[in-house]
Amino acid sequence: MGRAILLDKVNIPGIRAFEVYREHGGYKPAGKALLGMTPAQVQQEVIKSGLRGRGGAGFPTGLKWSFLDRKSDKPRYLVCNADESEPGTFKDRYLMEKLPHLLIEGLILSSYALGVKTCYIYIRGEFKYLVGILETAIHEAKKNNYLGEKILGTDFSLEIYVHPGAGAYICGEETALLESLEGKRGNPRIKPPFPAYKGLYDCPTVVNNVETLATVTSIISMGGDAYSKLGIGKSTGTKLMSACGNINKPGVYEIEMGLPVEDFIYSEEYCGGIKNDRMLKAVIPGGSSVPILPADLILNTAKGQPRLLTYESLAEGEFISGSMLGSGGFIVFDENACIVRNTWNLTRFYRHESCGQCSPCREGTGWMEKILYRIEHGQGRMSDIDLLVRIAKNIEGNTICPLGDAAAWPVASAIRHFRKEFEEHIK
Ligand SMILES: Cc1cc2nc3c(=O)[nH]c(=O)nc-3n(C[C@H](O)[C@H](O)[C@H](O)COP(=O)(O)O)c2cc1C
Ligand code: SF4
Repeated sequence: MGRAILLDKVNIPGIRAFEVYREHGGYKPAGKALLGMTPAQVQQEVIKSGLRGRGGAGFPTGLKWSFLDRKSDKPRYLVCNADESEPGTFKDRYLMEKLPHLLIEGLILSSYALGVKTCYIYIRGEFKYLVGILETAIHEAKKNNYLGEKILGTDFSLEIYVHPGAGAYICGEETALLESLEGKRGNPRIKPPFPAYKGLYDCPTVVNNVETLATVTSIISMGGDAYSKLGIGKSTGTKLMSACGNINKPGVYEIEMGLPVEDFIYSEEYCGGIKNDRMLKAVIPGGSSVPILPADLILNTAKGQPRLLTYESLAEGEFISGSMLGSGGFIVFDENACIVRNTWNLTRFYRHESCGQCSPCREGTGWMEKILYRIEHGQGRMSDIDLLVRIAKNIEGNTICPLGDAAAWPVASAIRHFRKEFEEHIK
């Protein structure tokens, strides 16, 4: 299953530099598209590929692009979401650090397809060291006429700007990101209107994740049809997984969609098994916002099928007996891990990062955190467990943005699968 599409060049010495990247086939897809394809044909390849957004929700990229308001006479924008603040997720930063030109080329191709002349990379404040890497790559691409005016002698012109945020998780949510890019506090907007109609500066805008946009380069290189043949069903292609926790080999891995979870955890090619030969206890498979699954349910679905790394297989099961592929932040817990302490820790994070606009999220995250603190510190009451479930239910679906759900699911799923552990803490 080990198939490197995005990371195939990652170990080439000096690949971060324009010349080395070009010597190894880099910028060929950009030349192929700009000199031989119409923007509509580039978009068609992305539709054919079946690519789904790698930022978390898995929304089909070609479909999202087709929503862009092309009748408006306002400028259009492409915004690359490089905020990557989801706990457990560190694949975009790896991609930008190792292969900055792969992303820049993806931005050129996507901007061409969308008719965009200005593109922003919104990068989280803590990634300051990456700003220089990206700006150098932009400068090199511009010097070689892959950016700027009349690229490769065509009528297509494009500027890319890197904009560091101030380090807030909520600025990864696309409308909060746009507010922040406009220089305001990063508060999520009420949708509709969606960014495709009213995005940056009220203009038609597409927001896509770093990995999604870098993948466009691979799709144009190999063709949408060939890309769609990788993976299983509606989970096409490859996915970057950032694996961490109690495993022997934490790191970023590119997997072909459909790899069994068991292989990912135990094979030497990927996580290399559980540290110190301990037993697997649980996994959060898609970044901290998705439901946690105990060992039996992460390795096999409730129907006894092997669980696969696909959007569909990870979600299989009635709500919370399944989880999500999300951003691919794969967090592994061994038998010694304390689920209560972990849930308290995550809830502390969401309480801190809530922007405070909606009462269920603002009040609910703080309330859950207080209750989890007292359970973890030996002052819990038995009634606290159902109280937590009720609070989580009242947050879920009742907020402006999905941060509310992201705070509710870890609590609800931890109690559903590890209620005994909460009871033991209280006793
Ligand atoms: C609280 C919150 C944080 C998010 N953080 C990120 C992030 O760091 N990076 C990202 O690409 N998407 C993030 N998203 C998802 C974005 O809102 C958006 O769906 C995504 O950038 C779209 O890109 P894609 O279609 O390529 O996945 C976040 C969503 C929420 C609700
Ligand atoms: S759900 Fe939370 S983070 Fe999102 S808008 Fe409401 S208060 Fe802000």
